[in-house]
Amino acid sequence: MKRILTTLAGLAAAGTMLAQTAPAARHKTEMDRFVDSLLGRMTLEEKIGQLNLPGAGDITTGQAKSSDIAGAIGRGEVGGLFNIKGVEKIREVQRIAVEESRLGIPLIFGMDVIHGYETAFPIPLALTATWNPAAVERAARIAAVEASASGICWTFSPMVDIARDPRWGRVSEGVGEDPCLGSAMARAMVYGYQGRDNTRYADDEIMACVKHYALYGASEAGRDYNTVDMSRQRMYNEYFAPYRAAVDAGVGSVMASFNEVEGIPATANRWLMTDVLRDQWGFDGFVVTDYTGTSEMIAHGIGDLQEVSARALAAGVDMDMVSEGFLKTLAASVEAGKVSEADIDRACRRILEAKYKLGLFADPYKYCDPKRAATEVYTEAHRAEARRTAAESFVLLRNEGGLLPLKKTAKIAVVGPLARSRENMSGTWSVATDLKKPLTLVEGLERVAGSEAEIVWAKGSNVCYDPELERNATLFGRDIPRDGRSDREMIDEALRIAADADVVVAALGEPSEMSGESSSRADIGIPDAQQALLRELAATGKPIVLVLFAGRPMTLGWEAENIPAILCVWFGGTEAAEAIADVLYGDANPSGKLPSSFPRSVGQIPLYYNHKNTGRPVSGERFEKYRSNYLDVPNTPLYPFGFGLSYTTFEYGPLTLSSDRMAAGGTITASVDVTNTGDREGAEVVQLYIRDLVGSTTRPVQELKGFEKITLRAGETKRVSFTIDEPMLRFYNHALEFVSEAGEFDVMVGGSSDRVQHARFTLR
Ligand code: BGC
Repeated sequence: MKRILTTLAGLAAAGTMLAQTAPAARHKTEMDRFVDSLLGRMTLEEKIGQLNLPGAGDITTGQAKSSDIAGAIGRGEVGGLFNIKGVEKIREVQRIAVEESRLGIPLIFGMDVIHGYETAFPIPLALTATWNPAAVERAARIAAVEASASGICWTFSPMVDIARDPRWGRVSEGVGEDPCLGSAMARAMVYGYQGRDNTRYADDEIMACVKHYALYGASEAGRDYNTVDMSRQRMYNEYFAPYRAAVDAGVGSVMASFNEVEGIPATANRWLMTDVLRDQWGFDGFVVTDYTGTSEMIAHGIGDLQEVSARALAAGVDMDMVSEGFLKTLAASVEAGKVSEADIDRACRRILEAKYKLGLFADPYKYCDPKRAATEVYTEAHRAEARRTAAESFVLLRNEGGLLPLKKTAKIAVVGPLARSRENMSGTWSVATDLKKPLTLVEGLERVAGSEAEIVWAKGSNVCYDPELERNATLFGRDIPRDGRSDREMIDEALRIAADADVVVAALGEPSEMSGESSSRADIGIPDAQQALLRELAATGKPIVLVLFAGRPMTLGWEAENIPAILCVWFGGTEAAEAIADVLYGDANPSGKLPSSFPRSVGQIPLYYNHKNTGRPVSGERFEKYRSNYLDVPNTPLYPFGFGLSYTTFEYGPLTLSSDRMAAGGTITASVDVTNTGDREGAEVVQLYIRDLVGSTTRPVQELKGFEKITLRAGETKRVSFTIDEPMLRFYNHALEFVSEAGEFDVMVGGSSDRVQHARFTLR
């Protein structure tokens, strides 16, 4: 066995060396030769083994030798494992694959490195709120450095499911409601993890996996894992773009989603996995199912394990996560003529190619360097970057009378059950993070304010009245023990410390497990017990700053009218506490903008800025009844997409176009002068929207087409210019052709989707 491995390693190393000096085409030839030769030596069972991604079982507890999985690895029945933490553990498991399996094929080690490894960055929705792809790329890059130093070569990220229903818990993991912003984030994350060259990975680069393909964010009523049904127009124009952007950026792998698409579960949907993904988009990596995605199709009602496994393979899926449907049934299906060995070869080839590109054949222990593990994880530099990024992700929703920033000498009453939790700070999917490490908000404030600080804390309430809901929302050891005192006693304590303070900082909202997977909510307001606390605090007349922890857009109708300052801090990662303090005290100026609309009420959902127009309601109607689609609420959101305040103010000069006509091959420049009219430096996200006024199909009232984040000193003016060209005006028409149509277009530029200036041009 050893001999075979040495030969494999020699061959692969030669290929890698050649690749360093030769163009990509040459590299591919070497890879092809290598994979051909290996495939030629594999039995059918060994090929099927490469397609198997089991749960790690007791291997995660270091019992590799005695576990079944270790035996399976030795028998060549495993292609990879995931969510194992620790470089020594991974090295040992890799050793079993390399030394004890017949062909010594190395394993691929995956993990949900969703927003950082040990250094946690803000949750992806919050990263998107930075509107700063360069910062998001740096975050993914740091995640890749730390993960690769810890034995991990593959991450199940980015998650780019467009979502317009904030009841869905997984909006926290995604990129919000807009395809253009989502695509920018998808590219940034893929580049951050993988670098720009996906034919070869450096020691500190890992393979990305874009998920969940496709449309997972459009499940009915925000119910997780639920049915999706939409037109192909909508898929192509509104939901596919971020997956496609990841593919165009060279993403190495794709994860199939749980939901069905056009009546066929994505995992078995050949149109999705092959016609669109590979034939139309040119994806050449491998496709993995989601966790038990294959066997769950039995419950969807399309067949037994053998049938669903055969259908997944035939659809274009290459690797089977946890179900073991491929492992247990594909050989029998070949025998029965249900699947061809050629299909298995094709899938196996894709897995082997991924391992080749990662450099695992040349050195199976490439990602297992204990020296790197000791020096490149959770470093000061990484944490400083995470702190900066977290501060940049917060969105200032309200700041009446300039209540923020606070003085460091102010006497602060910090109130709320989330203010003294450290385990909630990092947010959902902090798989590799040590949850005991982050500072609590109270500690962060003390640290940043320094010795002058006068900060007192009272819990004020439990997370919510219902202990069962609280247990679910604080799962995985989150450190908010249920308080045995009565609600009255807790509120009274909070009122007492508030009476004595200059200002109240109310740290309220969702604990981190109230969003994320399997965490949809029907009511997306601040939970009831905390609401009651906030109302009593407000009644005292003390100035209140609401520090809102949220994994989703929330309904804040009452808060928006009664609480003077609201800072949405999402879940900011391991350095969140100091980042929040940086912003509250004004050491950092907030510049985040909403990546999703905040509805006024759940009844408005789905609510999104880039909607279509209809004949009704009619604006300016005499009777209120005809001015909204609802009798009891307007059509508009409470806080729109792209909205976010700063401690300074920005003024936009007139929007000018270089021409009011564009020829097919030409361009137009849209320019605006932006001035910082306040008295401190700040950053503004200048947003470009376009509306196609008349089309062969109906078109949205506005669509984000570009954005630029600029920093301006007090009093400074900068000109921001966007180049508009014809490809930017294309859309998928009724025949699903990607075309532009001659006619008039509205250009809109501003600092929020609802605060824009207009100009118009004609495309000839
Ligand atoms: C989730 C995926 C995740 C996978 C592996 C699934 O339940 O839907 O997003 O990558 O588990 O942990």
